Amino acid sequence: MRIAFEGVSFSYVDPVHQEKRRKRARRRREAGVIEQPTSLAEHGRPAWGSDPEGTWALCDVTFSLEPGEFLGLAGHTGSGKSTLVQLINGLLRPTFGTVLVDGRDLADGKVAAAVRGKIGLVFQYPENQLFAPTVAEDVAFGPRNLGLSDDAVATRVREALRSVHLDPDEVGEKSPFELSGGQQRRVAFAGVLAMEPEVLVLDEPIAGLDPVAKEEFLQLIAELHSRGIAIVMVSHNMDDLARLAERIVVLNNGRVFALGTPVEVFARGDELRSVGLDVPQAQKLACELRECGFDLPRALYDTATLATDLAPQLSRRTKNALPGAGADAALPAPAGHAACASPAASAAPGDATPLAADSKEAGRA
Ligand SMILES: Nc1ncnc2c1ncn2[C@@H]1O[C@H](COP(=O)(O)OP(=O)(O)O)[C@@H](O)[C@H]1O
Ligand SMILES: [Mg+2]
Repeated sequence: MRIAFEGVSFSYVDPVHQEKRRKRARRRREAGVIEQPTSLAEHGRPAWGSDPEGTWALCDVTFSLEPGEFLGLAGHTGSGKSTLVQLINGLLRPTFGTVLVDGRDLADGKVAAAVRGKIGLVFQYPENQLFAPTVAEDVAFGPRNLGLSDDAVATRVREALRSVHLDPDEVGEKSPFELSGGQQRRVAFAGVLAMEPEVLVLDEPIAGLDPVAKEEFLQLIAELHSRGIAIVMVSHNMDDLARLAERIVVLNNGRVFALGTPVEVFARGDELRSVGLDVPQAQKLACELRECGFDLPRALYDTATLATDLAPQLSRRTKNALPGAGADAALPAPAGHAACASPAASAAPGDATPLAADSKEAGRA
């Protein structure tokens, strides 16, 4: 499934109110109280949407999600991320522009019905929406609404619970509220997976979890993606986006600020900082180490690649620093280098652990 946003603008303000604002602004412009927007003055039309005075949660957003892709979505609070994810699955409709699913307009009721359940949205803090008396019933809610037989629903519930690493026999008949916060979130995930979505849209899926649960969830999301499910993941954590996403969309004040691979997006570190974002920790550390004279040629570093490239250089320098090691012995060992030591110490272990099979164990250690 391919989802394409074409010039999508969205306003939460209702159209009647919007029209009143527009008229008031026109009157004030004509009276010379406010200036004509540049784009109106130059081109006779606004740069996006059709109402330069409107309050817009999203302005002229264009991008696509390719089949099976992992797309990261970043941006400051209020930049429009949650609005965008609700437009992806048709919960909200564009005020202007079009959301196309495999080339067909999602605003068309028939298209929306055909893709129902195929684009699964996991809200922020999804555990707040658990409602059924048992875990199994909660997960069964979606598939039952699809009109499946009892057997088919039961199979889907078991499979969905297993895919979030919960044992259906152990938790199925429990109340969701007897479970831990992390387990409740898994149940909420399972409810969406039971619809067998082709696209999974996750709005800050690891917010509020402890570090171990966060790592387990990221592992789970990576697993789902490796099964062929396309993922859209909203996150504030640049390390997580850098290691998981194939492309990243950065929003700023409702507009697309950057769109590209992690290497392309994080090459714009200064610009990202100007809109309240940052680059991954390992990347920041690599930049500082480079300034200290280390040879770090990759465009984008995570902790694993940084360790790989750094280790031989560190051991060379340490050997050289041993007594009697010749002329190079005067080279300071990097650990003692004031400018390098502090960022190294501040990079929390586990902040950007690679998604290797043993990363959970590393997180627990
Ligand atoms: N239900 C709503 N009603 C009115 N305005 C909203 C609503 N939800 C979000 N907004 C506004 O839309 C803009 C984008 O919000 P949102 O999509 O929630 O951003 P983010 O998820 O990036 O923090 C913000 O200015 C926010 O105040
Ligand atoms: Mg949000």
